[in-house]
Amino acid sequence: MKISFFSSKSYDRTYFNRYNTTHQLKFFDTSLNLESVNLLTDSQAVCVFVNDRLSAEVIAQLALKNIKIIALRCAGFNNVDLQAAQSHGIAVVRVPAYSPHAVAEHAVALIMTLNRKTHKAYNRVREGNFSLERLTGFDIFGKTVGVIGTGKIGEAFAKIMKGFGCRVLAYDVQPNAQLEALDIKYVPLQELFSASDIVSLHCPLMPQTNRLINAETLQQMKPNAMLINTSRGGLVDTGAVIKALKSGHLGYLGIDVYEQEADLFFNDFSESIIQDDVLMRLMSFPNVLITSHQGFFTEEALCQIAQVTFQNLHDFEAGALNPSTTLVKP
Ligand code: NAI
Repeated sequence: MKISFFSSKSYDRTYFNRYNTTHQLKFFDTSLNLESVNLLTDSQAVCVFVNDRLSAEVIAQLALKNIKIIALRCAGFNNVDLQAAQSHGIAVVRVPAYSPHAVAEHAVALIMTLNRKTHKAYNRVREGNFSLERLTGFDIFGKTVGVIGTGKIGEAFAKIMKGFGCRVLAYDVQPNAQLEALDIKYVPLQELFSASDIVSLHCPLMPQTNRLINAETLQQMKPNAMLINTSRGGLVDTGAVIKALKSGHLGYLGIDVYEQEADLFFNDFSESIIQDDVLMRLMSFPNVLITSHQGFFTEEALCQIAQVTFQNLHDFEAGALNPSTTLVKP
């Protein structure tokens, strides 16, 4: 099969070439959009990532180019119009779990960095500044952590925090019995917000969760609490978060995802004038830590992404799509 990759980076080429045995792979740096769709000549499959926007218009163009399958090399699929794919008879597959531990551990890295300020200490010591002024943190042990969404990543995260000696509260539309057995208590969302010192988001972005963190829910949070988002930017109303940071009500913010990330994340703009004033405002707070969607980025996850994607394409060719990785069956 001929497969065209969009938004591809050096690491995509490395890992997909490593596991490729039979397919012809074409790698494009550009994201998939109404213009770049014209790069497709004779491919049967496109392989896309989190910030490729597969709108109904783009999917209609893919159909005209005879694309038979969209292979997402990620878990989230909020960027794909599944109905449009269905109506054009294009299959959509994804990699539902590549390493839940990678993302859960990254959420913990954000917590630990924000708390113990190791990023600041690193720079200070390199400059010969051995002062401890303004580096005070807090013990994670004994704190209350609220986990919103206890699927694969939320579960891994909740277990790590339990290991730190935290009281873990959870909210999910489908409680996870395994976590309840570990003394992790499911509570209504409002109770989770008002009781938690740290709130971490691990639910998908969908109409029901869009801007779950807004002026009202931020107000329900404890003063000086920490908010962590490694899930999707749209879960958070960034304007409301900036207000809560400015007033001092929100104590810390750690994000690996951002609502408008598609134009920036995964690319180097270090010599450019960044036009996104909201992101620049966020970056100006000393108690905000931003990473550019690297939660998934481990050796184990990259191997798994390539292997599962090739398996999905193989299953499609064999006419035996795996229901657990298939979003749209043609
Ligand atoms: P999952 O599907 O295993 O778990 C999602 C959980 O959210 C499920 O338990 C589900 O019941 C729950 N949920 C659904 N609607 C909800 C609602 N309204 N309120 C509360 N909970 C709700 O997904 P997984 O693998 O744990 O991934 C979670 C999210 O993490 C993905 O949707 C994706 O957006 C994000 N992600 C981020 C990555 C990164 O690199 N930063 C990498 C991979 C995923």
